[in-house]
Amino acid sequence: MTEKTWTARRTVLRRAELEALVRKHARQEPLVRDRPPILVRHAGITRIVDGTNRINLRLAEGCESVEVIVLEPLPNATGGGRAREWQARTKRKLTRRERVQRLLDRVQFLYDILPGLTHQPLPWLGYPTAKGGADATERWAAIEKAIAGSEPRSALDVGSNVGFFSISLARLGIPVLGVEQDAACVRIARYAARKCRLRELSFAQMTVTPRTIRLLPQADVVLCLGVHHYWSRSFGFAAATEMLSQLWERCAVAMFFDTDEGEMAASHNLPPMEPDSREWLAEYLSLNCADAEVSHLGTFRTSSPDAAGGRGVIARNLFQLARRRAEASSDGFEEESVAPSHARRRELTG
Ligand SMILES: C[S@@+](CC[C@H](N)C(=O)[O-])C[C@H]1O[C@@H](n2cnc3c(N)ncnc32)[C@H](O)[C@@H]1O
Repeated sequence: MTEKTWTARRTVLRRAELEALVRKHARQEPLVRDRPPILVRHAGITRIVDGTNRINLRLAEGCESVEVIVLEPLPNATGGGRAREWQARTKRKLTRRERVQRLLDRVQFLYDILPGLTHQPLPWLGYPTAKGGADATERWAAIEKAIAGSEPRSALDVGSNVGFFSISLARLGIPVLGVEQDAACVRIARYAARKCRLRELSFAQMTVTPRTIRLLPQADVVLCLGVHHYWSRSFGFAAATEMLSQLWERCAVAMFFDTDEGEMAASHNLPPMEPDSREWLAEYLSLNCADAEVSHLGTFRTSSPDAAGGRGVIARNLFQLARRRAEASSDGFEEESVAPSHARRRELTG
């Protein structure tokens, strides 16, 4: 017989209280598999609310209070016991084929991450740092702060690698599409998304080129991190600039950008960013992304196994591009933003 390790508390919560409870639930990261669920009873149906999945929370919309059953651990319960009980009670029995598939997925994941994650960590799966020496967590902290309060409804992560930024966005309840050309990275990212139970997160395996970039969807938040110099290397700097402009057209609210700035610039067909890469990039972004308000979010260490000297870690400037809203003038008409100087634009794009 399974040992009883938690107790049910029935209560009525207001919307805001429920949302706070779900947020708190989602923050208990190390306990992803151990945490007990919150059950919400609404319109005669009991649903499980997973803090990482807003879809379920939407069930409660339109009503001011909901009946909630919170499962709380008994004082002497162990984490492992809670996890086992939760799995036993809620999971339907897997078919033999599904069990074999899960095993294959696990083996494939362990094979794919060899010899170690190089660019991004996956802390939710027990890989808190990337092998390269610097990881994406500091950049994420800056991005998370920048989007706080803006309630984005969608996000697009171009060059999503193993999914660190995509998962981080999805954990905020934002539907996300990650786009990545490397098959192993996509497999790792999909595996991680499933382990984190993020159902509104997808990954497309796709090489973004000057022609395929038109296939990318529009999104409130767009990440263009560490991928622009790959474009420049593959298609030339002028084409990479055009791709940047097109990506920005798909962004409704904010885009985050960084690129190679020096050590590998020549091999990536990037021009010298003189006299100062931060100023040069800020101007480059302003001139090629119409109606963008460009701000500098900081300088961050980034993993780069190609960096000269084999150090593997370089510093890059991180920028935010916010879409300028057309402002109504005193005569009631919308004022058009000033177009970037055509001559200067050509000068910077080569
Ligand atoms: C340096 S990593 C940066 C990953 C992540 N965006 C970050 O900043 O941590 C670049 C990623 O973009 C992917 N990539 C490069 N060129 C691409 C392209 N044309 N289309 C899609 N993905 C691409 C690479 O496979 C790699 O995973």
